Amino acid sequence: MPFRSRSARQSPRSRRSASLNAQLALIMALIGIAGAVGITVLLASLITPGFDRLETAPEHAPTLGRHILLMAVGGSILLLLVVLVTLRRIIAHRVLAPLERLRAHMQHVCASGLLAPLEVGDRRDEIGSLGKSFNAMLGQLDRQREQIEAQSFLLGRSANAVEVMHNVRNALNPISTILSQGSAETPAVDRALLGRTLSELAQSDLSADRREKLAAFALACIDALDEARRAQVGQLEIGREALAHVLDIIGAQQADAHQPFALDPCDITDVIARNATIARYAGGLSIAFSFPAEPQPVLANRLILSQVIGNLFANAAEAIAATGRQNGAITVNVDRHDNTVRVRIRDDGEGFAPEDGPALFRRGFSTRTNKAGGLGLHWCANAMAAMRGSLALHSEGKGRGAVAELHLEAPTEENVEL
Ligand SMILES: Nc1ncnc2c1ncn2[C@@H]1O[C@H](COP(=O)(O)OP(=O)(O)OP(=O)(O)O)[C@@H](O)[C@H]1O
Ligand SMILES: [Mg+2]
Repeated sequence: MPFRSRSARQSPRSRRSASLNAQLALIMALIGIAGAVGITVLLASLITPGFDRLETAPEHAPTLGRHILLMAVGGSILLLLVVLVTLRRIIAHRVLAPLERLRAHMQHVCASGLLAPLEVGDRRDEIGSLGKSFNAMLGQLDRQREQIEAQSFLLGRSANAVEVMHNVRNALNPISTILSQGSAETPAVDRALLGRTLSELAQSDLSADRREKLAAFALACIDALDEARRAQVGQLEIGREALAHVLDIIGAQQADAHQPFALDPCDITDVIARNATIARYAGGLSIAFSFPAEPQPVLANRLILSQVIGNLFANAAEAIAATGRQNGAITVNVDRHDNTVRVRIRDDGEGFAPEDGPALFRRGFSTRTNKAGGLGLHWCANAMAAMRGSLALHSEGKGRGAVAELHLEAPTEENVEL
């Protein structure tokens, strides 16, 4: 440890310099010698006249003895007091004041988080060495703090990338369904039959009745082709919208990597409607969606909110698929209480035991075996918290569906314009 090796390197110098212990011992010895000399001088100056009187009047001897004893005791007490007061001052000045400075500095470091070094001067005793060790420790802490910041930045970036990939995969899912449905679709018109009809129509000896029937059939074929083409264009339009969503997710990620969410008023009904159109194609199920038509402004980041709703719809669709049915229903309700907008997404999927609810939000927890899941709810809850909102998932039990409940702030009157 650098701290230890540093103090080990300092020790010869400390030995050369006067340690605090040695300083105190020296000071006490000096005070002791000075006191002893002082008492001797005092006693000598008091006793000498007494001895003079003893020679002339020996009957004063006992009184003189008592006086000398009292003076010796008084002098010792006085000396002790002087030593104690001087020691107290020296300790306060040399030990307590620097320790107090060190404590105040530590408190400042704790409160401000600034790792500024302590002013230690050129003291070479234990206090000086304590200050230097403290400064060395602050330096080490500073370097470690920098390392941790760099590491958490990298960690945050990779966690962020995983989340973006997850949402991109979520948004790509319906596109894959649309494309597979499109390629598996049987042609709306039997081309061979239409060919035969047209060549028969070209014959000149055809009866009027037959010609009429064939013409009607050819027209019906054209209508069917037209209808199929329109349906295909509709699906491609949804696919294009889903792809635009994917590009938005990636684009926003590149633009504001590590920036806090900007919260703006946006219409949650519109976000729900767009996601419902895309989620109809989730997993190839037939899902009946119902949601309100009236606009409801909320304060959120539109793109993030759209990803949250997309995740919750995908979860609902997966919960429906998990029942084994090919169809299900997702119902969305939106209401406002004071300044809070509540959105409830109810599905008739497999549900879960109520006590399992909190565990579903753990990163990595997933019951879906067809994918490496377990990020959706965790990410959604964090995203909602970042938008000053919340997310909860309830179920009355297995087989009884589930309700995802979102809370968001309603915009204030100044920014309600959408
Ligand atoms: N609407 C729901 N009904 C029933 N169970 C649900 C519902 N939504 C989530 N769950 C359960 O919570 C688990 C965690 O959901 P979460 O969205 O975090 O992960 P995932 O859907 O499994 O994978 P992914 O990371 O792709 O979203 C799911 O595996 C599922 O067991
Ligand atoms: Mg999910």
